[in-house]
Amino acid sequence: MRLIIREDPKAVAYYTANYVRQRINEFKPTRKRPFVLGLPTGSTPVEVYWHLVDFFKRGEVSFRNVITFSMDEYVGLPRSHPESYCSFMYRHLYDHIDLRPENIHMLDGNADDLAAECQRYEDKIKEVGGIELFLGGIGPDGHIAFNEPGSSLESVTRVKTLAYETVLANARFFGGDVNKVPKLALTVGVGTVRAAREVLLIITGAHKAVALAKCIEEGVNHMWTVSVIQLHPSAMVVCDEDATLELHVKTVRYFKSIEQVQEQLIGRQNISLKGSISRLSGYDPGQTYRVAVQQSTGDVASELDTGEESDDDNVYDDDEYPEEEEEEEEEGDVQKMAVSSSADMLASSPSEINGASLNGSLAPAATAGNPF
Ligand code: PGA
Repeated sequence: MRLIIREDPKAVAYYTANYVRQRINEFKPTRKRPFVLGLPTGSTPVEVYWHLVDFFKRGEVSFRNVITFSMDEYVGLPRSHPESYCSFMYRHLYDHIDLRPENIHMLDGNADDLAAECQRYEDKIKEVGGIELFLGGIGPDGHIAFNEPGSSLESVTRVKTLAYETVLANARFFGGDVNKVPKLALTVGVGTVRAAREVLLIITGAHKAVALAKCIEEGVNHMWTVSVIQLHPSAMVVCDEDATLELHVKTVRYFKSIEQVQEQLIGRQNISLKGSISRLSGYDPGQTYRVAVQQSTGDVASELDTGEESDDDNVYDDDEYPEEEEEEEEEGDVQKMAVSSSADMLASSPSEINGASLNGSLAPAATAGNPF
């Protein structure tokens, strides 16, 4: 699993949207071989969609051969209700891009037979060859889609009773009135998400810090359904600094160092989009590389000499933590490894970064007013 940490929600949204753009473009979808994308609702993905619309308008991505599946929908709320997830998806994304209407799939929370509707959805996903990339958000209780605590980790699309905490959290979309929030929803299951070939979760905010810690540092547990991504062969969490507040410092440093070493020492050109090391062209184990360091006084950069003797210590396997001594050695310089260097490891040139500054935040150009 990869954990990508960016400074704030804006940088997280840009990273995520850029990743989706690159995955679609790399996939080169055609009508016969479409890219199947699972999509979430909620406040977290709104800015991701804003960027995707922006990329589309600039001709940098097309959704013509993309098929989408939304994660969930309230039961009993008219589709035309402004807070239905159907309205949400059209308002924030579908009305602004070139998706073919027949490629848009959503659950019908007003179907006469809800169980049959859920089965239809699962069948449709299978019919198009499964989901290539599932984007997801999580709730503060660790739910993924509407898979509330206690959901079976094998669950598929079904009717779900919302946890009181979720109803409370969503009351903000219904004028703060919990009585107006539907208490039932249709949702893809934990198993449906797991079946996707890749899962990307977006987690921002201190209120989700406990859930992120449960997801990353503790075991797979149905009370924190998001933790199931530990079992997924191709999963990535993109989070902001606030969401890391409950993680161990060591965990945060570990994941940052992985990204940084990969980019700077192994070389961006050798890293596949999904993060694996595909080749080692130009790799020099003895090279000196720069580590951007963020201190309370501002950003500075220091040079670490990665001599032959310490090579092994600088390239960790995904499931290894850095040696204690190494952390001590870097102490003082590496107060906090910056998001940094890595404003965007996916962009292949500074011009592609599109307004993202080197500390991962977005420059004004990229944060200008929402176009719709
Ligand atoms: P949020 O909701 O993005 O509005 O925080 C996410 C979720 O509950 O899954």
